[in-house]
Amino acid sequence: MNLDELKKGCEACRKCALGSSRKNSVFERGSRQAKLMLVGEAPGGKEDETGIPFVGAAGQLLDKYLEAVGIDREEVYICNILKCRPPQNRDPLPEEQEACMDHLRAQVRQVKPRMIVCLGRIAAMRLISPDYKITKEHGVFQKKGNFLITAVYHPSALLRDPSKKEDMLKDMLRIAEEYKKIKEE
Ligand code: URA
Repeated sequence: MNLDELKKGCEACRKCALGSSRKNSVFERGSRQAKLMLVGEAPGGKEDETGIPFVGAAGQLLDKYLEAVGIDREEVYICNILKCRPPQNRDPLPEEQEACMDHLRAQVRQVKPRMIVCLGRIAAMRLISPDYKITKEHGVFQKKGNFLITAVYHPSALLRDPSKKEDMLKDMLRIAEEYKKIKEE
């Protein structure tokens, strides 16, 4: 299935209860040819309204980091583990994540990124390791199949605790460095 078909599949998906409570499914933002994919947790209110990932306050902060380290936001691909908003923005339940993972796996197969950055603990636990500790392991790169993978703090965590912003900038600078190498290959 191509990305348009996958997007339609998400719009029709009722594999978990969130398919009935959300306004819009939230599939992707950015370039389908991207070498860098950023994966968040789940849509929030603004994303549910618009159907576009990371357009609320956390997304605006993410855009500022991308700009600060010289990564064009239009050139990367941004999506989430969950395509539907959990009520009151609660953490996604394990069964909701499980139900949604096939959509993300298919997205990865189609986009074929060379680097994946997990935004926050939930994405890192799902895509890197179930016992991932974001405070200890953020910014560490691992090779997985055809891509490099790492995790950074979720932008919402930075809004709650600005003391994490210094680490975030360091991690994003390192990501930009690796990304530049990949683009030059
Ligand atoms: N937080 C996420 O993890 N994803 C979004 O799309 C918005 C906020």
